Amino acid sequence: MFTAIAGVYDLNNTLLSFGLHYSWKKIAASYIPPIEEGTALDVGSGTADLALLVEPRMGAKGRVIASDLNHAMLAEGRKKVADHGLSGKITCLQASAEHLGFPDNTFDAVTTGFCMRNVGNLPQAVGEICRVMKPGGRFVCLEFSRPVFGWLRTLYDWYSFTLLPWIGTKVARDTTGVYEYLPASIRTFPDQERLCEILRAAGFQHVEYRNLTGGIVAIHIATK
Ligand SMILES: C[S@@+](CC[C@H](N)C(=O)[O-])C[C@H]1O[C@@H](n2cnc3c(N)ncnc32)[C@H](O)[C@@H]1O
Repeated sequence: MFTAIAGVYDLNNTLLSFGLHYSWKKIAASYIPPIEEGTALDVGSGTADLALLVEPRMGAKGRVIASDLNHAMLAEGRKKVADHGLSGKITCLQASAEHLGFPDNTFDAVTTGFCMRNVGNLPQAVGEICRVMKPGGRFVCLEFSRPVFGWLRTLYDWYSFTLLPWIGTKVARDTTGVYEYLPASIRTFPDQERLCEILRAAGFQHVEYRNLTGGIVAIHIATK
C-alpha cells in the first residue's frame, strides 16, 4: 500500500489533515532536546519530515538515521533530504521497526510519526526502540489517538468512515484500500493511556503525553 501511494503521500497528508500534519510534526520534534554531536533515529520516517525537523537539534556534527520498511517511501525521503542538501547528515535506510538491527544503546533520541499504528507487533517495536536508545535518551511518538470530546469523536467518525472513503472512491479513484485502512488502523490503535502502559512495559520511564487538535493526534514523550 505504501509503495502505491509514496509519490502522492505528502500531498495526500496535507489535503487530508487540512495542512495540520506539518505543525503536528514541528511540535513533536520540539520535544527532542538539543544535543551536541547527537545521534537520532526516526522510525518509519517515510518521506523524512520528522528526520529533517530533528536534524538541526543534533548540532553541527550530529547525525540522523531515517529508517523505514518501505523502499518507495524511503526513496521519496532520500530525494527530499537531498533537496535540503542534507544527504551528508541524514542517512535513509531500510529497516523494520520490529527488528531495527542497530546495537544496543546507540541513539540519543528516537522519533516516530504515524508509523506505530502500522507495525505488526507494537510491543516488540517499542521494545526495539528502547533497546537501541542510550540510557537517558528521549523517545517521541506522534500518532493518531482518541479525540477527548464526544462531539469531536462523532464528527471525526463521520469524516473517517463516511467522507474519507467517499473521497477515496469518487475523487481519488483509489484501488489500494488506503482510505478504508487509514480510519480502521486509527480506531484499533491503543488510546493515549493504553499507549503509556505499553511504553512503560517496554522499559521507558517518565512517560507522558500531549493531545493535539483535541486528541485526534497525541505526542507521547518517554525517557529510557
Ligand atoms: C503513515 S506513514 C508516516 C511517514 C512519516 N513518518 C510521516 O510522519 O509522514 C507510515 C510509515 O511507516 C512505515 N512502516 C510501516 N510499517 C513499518 C514497520 N514495521 N517498520 C518500519 N516502517 C514501517 C511505512 O512504510 C510508512 O512509510
